Amino acid sequence: MSFASVLVLNGPNLNLLGTREPAIYGAETLDDVAALCRTAGERLNLSIDFRQSNAEHQLIDWLHAARTDIDGVVINPAAYTHTSVAIADALTAIEKPVIEVHISNVHRREAFRHHSYVSAVAEAIIVGCGTQGYVLALERMATLLDRKAAR
Ligand code: DQA
Repeated sequence: MSFASVLVLNGPNLNLLGTREPAIYGAETLDDVAALCRTAGERLNLSIDFRQSNAEHQLIDWLHAARTDIDGVVINPAAYTHTSVAIADALTAIEKPVIEVHISNVHRREAFRHHSYVSAVAEAIIVGCGTQGYVLALERMATLLDRKAAR
């Protein structure tokens, strides 16, 4: 069976997951999330490329590389969600399915978190499901990429 490749991209401050505002983001670390994604990837026949950067240009460069190497993108752009036209443009440019994930329910938080530049270019948005949101996104991505979960 051939594997589709999914880039799972994480924006600024998500490297601090587990210690950063645990009441909002939970106790799991980013390594825990990567492990969750890899386990889901094995089940769904998706090859997972899991990355995090605090730098907008780095996220954009990885998205550009994904034009040729990757079949779909799951992205938690973190604070860049609310500020970055550049990341939204890069997601549009690569012409791959995009699923936006937020660990917290951004709509229950400050007003500045209610707007996302990424949502307009995403196939789907998963918010407020904790780190399980990444797994839900990968399940949806597998469907979008027409890959059936191995049983
Ligand atoms: C976040 C929500 C953003 O508003 C925030 O800036 C983050 C994390 C989330 O996963 O809930 O850094 O994307």
